[in-house]
Amino acid sequence: MSTRTLIRGGILVTASDTFEADILIAAGKIAQIGMGLIPDDQTEVLDATGCYIIPGGIDPHTHLDMPFGGTVTADDFATGTTAAAFGGTTTIIDFCLTQKSRPLSESLQDWHRKAEGKAVIDYGFHLMIGEMNEQVLEELPQMIEEEGISSFKVFMAYKNQFQADDGILFQTLQKAKEYGALVMVHAENGDVIDLLVKQALAEGHTTPIHHALTRPSMLEGEATGRAARLAALADSQLYVVHVTCAEAAEQIARMREMGHRIWGETCPQYLTLDQSIMDQPDFEGAKYVWSPPLREKGHQEALWNALQSGQLQTIGSDHCSFNFKGQKDLGKDDFSKIPNGGPVIEDRLSILYSEGVAKGRISLNQWVDLCSTRASKLFGLFPQKGTLAVGTDADIVIFDPSITRVISVETHHMNVDYSAFEGMQVQGCPVTVLCRGEYVIRDRQYVGNAGAGKYVKRNKYDAGAPIPPRQPVTAIHGGRN
Ligand code: URP
Ligand code: ZN
Ligand code: ZN
Repeated sequence: MSTRTLIRGGILVTASDTFEADILIAAGKIAQIGMGLIPDDQTEVLDATGCYIIPGGIDPHTHLDMPFGGTVTADDFATGTTAAAFGGTTTIIDFCLTQKSRPLSESLQDWHRKAEGKAVIDYGFHLMIGEMNEQVLEELPQMIEEEGISSFKVFMAYKNQFQADDGILFQTLQKAKEYGALVMVHAENGDVIDLLVKQALAEGHTTPIHHALTRPSMLEGEATGRAARLAALADSQLYVVHVTCAEAAEQIARMREMGHRIWGETCPQYLTLDQSIMDQPDFEGAKYVWSPPLREKGHQEALWNALQSGQLQTIGSDHCSFNFKGQKDLGKDDFSKIPNGGPVIEDRLSILYSEGVAKGRISLNQWVDLCSTRASKLFGLFPQKGTLAVGTDADIVIFDPSITRVISVETHHMNVDYSAFEGMQVQGCPVTVLCRGEYVIRDRQYVGNAGAGKYVKRNKYDAGAPIPPRQPVTAIHGGRN
């Protein structure tokens, strides 16, 4: 294998610029960017004419090999990261679950064992905080300083399972401020949802659509606003995962307008699918059970507007795959037992390009920012990852915008028996993907190695760097500007 690779003829796209240039990779890093670079004998030349060259995607929200809802996700770190690579993602940040009364370090070791020897692209971990006590307080700084974990996740829903109370959330925010970490929240009002679910079941409502009907958007908006206010009170920083609705986007926008460090992520499924598909016969709707749930179609425009205006900043996949047969059917007679989540890791960049860039909703540079650069900055990976610059990791995707394909379970690489986007035609396709200069996907074929992916220790959250732009709240309601 040649130690140097020269990619010629493509158009480089970063979060800020679009320009024609050659790009030379040496020893896993970007060594040179410029016009008319001359290869030596040791250099392999790759023609990228007609393609975009973008920084490898960074997926800040995945669940691989994760026990949940009485089963374990269908994708592990081998299949999940392989599918991610096919989709143009070269780094994931996966959620490490923790358990009460158990040292955080033990849970973290579990997650390292799940990934080591399997991951084909690079990975980091967020750490779930489910309790606050002397032991957790003692371990938190070590997690940041020694383990390179600069983001903590608090669940405001999933009562009696993962849900933490407001006191735990507030203290996590305080500690994050003190030590330099970003707090992530699953923002839904878990107590009220629990009550609504019990009431629906008592009335005999058991089908998948009732998952959505018992988790109204108002409860996501309420929890998002509450978390954002607690973050403001602690003068801390908050990242709201999987924002699905106008109410939540509006809360984030308002608090940002006031100058608070509040960030929001949405996911391809909330931008393209709506609640009506959960009401299909024969339990089909179970394929689309996510929490928070898919919303009525009108929310999609609010989310696109929020992405366009910068009020939501990242796209996560929230990849959490379960087979329709043998896993989703655990909830055949009771919607509350359907494992929550779906397969998205492979389709994140393609859907955002096709539905976003190709349809004129976002720019090429916004696409790169949303799918890579912003997550890199927020989660302490920048500038090592998430951009194209001399000295950065050569995590590079060659993306051909002229290819049209149809998403299907027949052709995807996720280890799951259905596609949530079955039949969706997408324009553009990642054709070649390199992680630290090594090919993982070449001409749409997998050529990577299990275990080649490395754990990335992340830097602390930098409160100084990402200053929220002050933008009018009204933008999320109006048409596109
Ligand atoms: O339904 C979902 N989102 N499953 C994954 C777990 C979570 O809440 O992110
Ligand atoms: Zn969640
Ligand atoms: Zn998730």
